[in-house]
Amino acid sequence: MDSFSYRDNALHAENIAVDAIAEKFGTPCYVYSREALEQSFRAYQDALADWPHLVCYAVKANSNLAVLDVLARLGAGFDIVSVGELERVVAAGGDPAKIVFSGVAKTPAEMARALELGIHCFNVESAAELDVLNRVAGNMNLLAPVSIRVNPDVDARTHPYISTGLRENKFGLGVDEAIALYRRAAQLPHLEIRGLDCHIGSQLTELSPFIDALRHLLVLIDRLEAEGIIIRHLDLGGGLGVRYRDEQPPAIADYIGAIRAELGTRQLPLVFEPGRSIAANAGLLLTRVEYVKQTPEHNFALVDAGMNDMIRPALYQAWLDIQPTRRQEEGINAHWDIVGPVCETGDFLGKNRPLTLADGTLLAMFGAGAYGFSMSSNYNSRPRAAEIMVDGDQMHLVRRRESISDLLHLEQTLPG
Ligand code: LLP
Repeated sequence: MDSFSYRDNALHAENIAVDAIAEKFGTPCYVYSREALEQSFRAYQDALADWPHLVCYAVKANSNLAVLDVLARLGAGFDIVSVGELERVVAAGGDPAKIVFSGVAKTPAEMARALELGIHCFNVESAAELDVLNRVAGNMNLLAPVSIRVNPDVDARTHPYISTGLRENKFGLGVDEAIALYRRAAQLPHLEIRGLDCHIGSQLTELSPFIDALRHLLVLIDRLEAEGIIIRHLDLGGGLGVRYRDEQPPAIADYIGAIRAELGTRQLPLVFEPGRSIAANAGLLLTRVEYVKQTPEHNFALVDAGMNDMIRPALYQAWLDIQPTRRQEEGINAHWDIVGPVCETGDFLGKNRPLTLADGTLLAMFGAGAYGFSMSSNYNSRPRAAEIMVDGDQMHLVRRRESISDLLHLEQTLPG
């Protein structure tokens, strides 16, 4: 079932008309569907049911505690990149033993906290990091479980800002460097080699880069095994794309199926780190048109959500669908630039959209569940939006709207 759908000309999130959510909690606000989150997570679990696996949701995509809670209850693991994300997972009831820790610049304090909680694996990205991790684990009298992040040098054919698997990126290590680092890891007394890790980019809409990467990694695993270095799990990262407009990304089941087919009889335990493919289409951003402004060059719809609430269009020229929450809305039929209140020309949500709009029209931006709220900021001293989770015919405020005093409370003026 589609968790967001028009019924009687009104957009619903599960069984709730989104207009009622805007009425109750104000705009801008993010609306998530528990059902949609569960469906996408289960698609991974089901496709891997008879294969040893761990699906670690990438917390950065949407780190609201309620989102983490919903996934933790389904047995999710979590991919984290900071101690902040680590503490969120713990606060939401996630199991530390199912956490993988990615990121290029983990601090010793972050490593120590993750070791204390007993995470599943550190995805190590450099020789310097490996040495620090060995030292931190030694000080705690513990063994740190490690994978090395390998850069298989495949072109993910996605936006350059979210492509991470090329040699020129700051992420991971080339194959030869990775082998050298595994040799070193095998010598260090406070490390335990667990797996091999890679993540080649985000919003991938084709299978071939994933399969290319996998082939490179399998060759590497064999080379390591020939030296007596045994890889016990293969972490293929995240990256599966979603449909925002007319993209045709593979279904989750087909993506997993293709990987399993490539592995054949080799029952290597698999780890995945999906973010977008779990959360993107489980969320909407609701925003109201404050004013329409028609100039000789453009028709502007000035809305109450800005680039501080949703930066993807400004940062990546991302296209997300925007529609009125009620069909047959009265108003002016035109091609609209939907722009926010922030004082930047780059502050737009969508351009040249054929829509019927008027002052007060409530709009929904679809596909906003991933990298929406989690990338939001207080730029222009704008309090961040409320977040609401719908569950059947219930709506729950899962993050209240920030207040002006929230904005000010960490700061102070000079003494005297
Ligand atoms: N694992 C690692 C190591 C990652 O760096 C990422 C995303 C993921 C997993 C999850 O990837 P996903 O399944 O969501 O594609 N802010 C950008 C996306 C940045 C992705 C960064 N890394 C956007 O809004 O498009």
